Amino acid sequence: MKVDVLLGLQWGDEGKGKVVDVLTPRYDIITRFQGGPNAGHSLEFNEIKHVLHTIPSGIFRPRQINVIGNGVVIDPIIFKKEIEGLKALVPDIKEKLYISKKAHLILPSHRILDAASEQSKGKTKIGSTLKGIGPTYMDKTGRNGLRIGDILSPNFKEKYAELVAKHKQLIAIHNFEYRMEDYEKGWFEGIEELKKFTLVDSEHYINKQLSQSKKILAEGAQGTLLDIDFGSYPFVTSSNTICAGACTGLGIAPGKIGKVYGIFKAYCTRVGSGPFPTELSDNIGEELRNKGHEFGATTGRPRRCGWLDLPALKYAIMLNGVTDLIMTKADILSGFDKIKVCTAYKTVNGITEDFPYELNDVIEPVYEELPAWNDDLTTARSLADLPQTMKDYVRYLEHKLEVPISIISVGPNREQTIEV
Ligand code: GDP
Ligand code: IMO
Ligand code: MG
Repeated sequence: MKVDVLLGLQWGDEGKGKVVDVLTPRYDIITRFQGGPNAGHSLEFNEIKHVLHTIPSGIFRPRQINVIGNGVVIDPIIFKKEIEGLKALVPDIKEKLYISKKAHLILPSHRILDAASEQSKGKTKIGSTLKGIGPTYMDKTGRNGLRIGDILSPNFKEKYAELVAKHKQLIAIHNFEYRMEDYEKGWFEGIEELKKFTLVDSEHYINKQLSQSKKILAEGAQGTLLDIDFGSYPFVTSSNTICAGACTGLGIAPGKIGKVYGIFKAYCTRVGSGPFPTELSDNIGEELRNKGHEFGATTGRPRRCGWLDLPALKYAIMLNGVTDLIMTKADILSGFDKIKVCTAYKTVNGITEDFPYELNDVIEPVYEELPAWNDDLTTARSLADLPQTMKDYVRYLEHKLEVPISIISVGPNREQTIEV
C-alpha cells in the first residue's frame, strides 16, 4: 500500500481539517508530518465545531489510529489543553493517538525566542503565530533540540535546563523582557500528560502498517507557499510543507507516496506578513473576509484576501506532484458581479506565468474575468446541483491547471461536500 497525502497549495487555511475529516473513513491511519501548533484545522459535524492544532484531523472518527509524526513539533502546554478539550468528544483518545519519539519539543523558551526575534525585526517581522515554531526547528537542525523520546530519560530535567541556559543567552542579546515561570509549570504538566500516550518509533510503525495493507492518509499543515524552501521566503514557516515533507516527516520512501490531494480555496488568503500579488485592499477583499469568516483559527487575526492566483497554484501543483485537486469555499464566491482569476504576472522583465524568485518583483497580476453566479451553493450535494456558470468555472480551472478537481467543498460542515 501507499500513503496518500493531503496538503495545502496556498498560504494555509485552505480547509485541510474539514476535508481530512471527510476522507478519514476511507483510511486506517491519519498522520501529521510537519508543523506544530501554528496550525489551526477546523472541523464541523453534527452541532460540533472544533479546531485542532497538533492532533490529526482523523481523531473524531471511531476506527482510525492517528499518528503525530517525527516531523511535527509539539508544545506540551498546547497538547494538554487540546487533549482536555477532546475529553468528552473522544473519550478513548489514549488508544487512538500515537506520538513519534522523534518529534521535537517546543520549550517555553522557544516561544519567548520567537517573540524576541519578531520584536527585533520590527516592520520586517514574519507575522509568526508566536508558537515557537522557528526557534524549535532551528534547534532541530542545529542539533540542540529535545525530542519526545527524551522525556523518558532519567536526566531529562538536566537536558532541559542545559537548553534553556543556551536560550537565555540568546534572549539577552535581543534585550527582551520575559517571565519563563509563566509557562514552565504548565509545560512540565504537559510532559506528564504526554507520558500517558503511546510513544512510538513512528517510521517503523507506519512502514509495518503499509506492509500489512493498511491505508494511510498524511495531513499537511500550512501550505506550499509557506514552505521553507519554495514559499515566499523569508515570509514562510520553518518546515517543508510540500509533499517531500511527508517522506522526511514520517520516514516513508518517495515510492511509497500514492495520491497527492492538493487543496485550494476558490480565492486566496494569507495571514501574517509577506507578498501577496492578488491581495484586494478594497471592498471586494472586505466582502471575501466577511462572507468567508476569514479570521485565523489559531491567532484570530484577520486574513488578507484576494483573487485566485493560477501561476502560484501551478507552481504548487508542480512541486507536490498533485494528482487530485480539492476546491473549498466555492460557496463564498456566490453573489459577486464578476470573478477574477490571475493568469500571469506582469514583472519588470515582462509578462510571465512562472512563480518568480521574489514575489515582490511582481508589479501587477494579469486577470481574466469570468461570469459569476448568485445561487446559494451550500445545499448542493452533487455536481448536478451546481449552476452551469459554476460548473464552467470548475472546467476552466481544470483546463488551466491540467489536474482534475475531485472534490468541491461548499460549506464548513462534513456534509457540505461534493464528490465529482
Ligand atoms: P485549515 O488550516 O486548512 O484546516 O483551514 P482552517 O480551518 O484554518 O480554515 C478554513 C475555514 O474555512 C474554517 O473556518 C472552516 O470551517 C471553513 N471551511 C472549510 N471549507 C469550507 C467551505 O467549503 N465553505 C465555507 N464557507 N467554509 C469552509
Ligand atoms: P494551517 O495548518 C496560515 C503563517 C503565519 C506567518 C508564517 C510563519 O492552519 O493552514 P510560524 O508561526 O509558522 O513561524 O509563522 O506562517 N502560518 C500560517 N498561516 N495557516 C497556517 O496553518 C499557518 N501556520 C503558520 O501566519 O505568516
Ligand atoms: Mg488553519
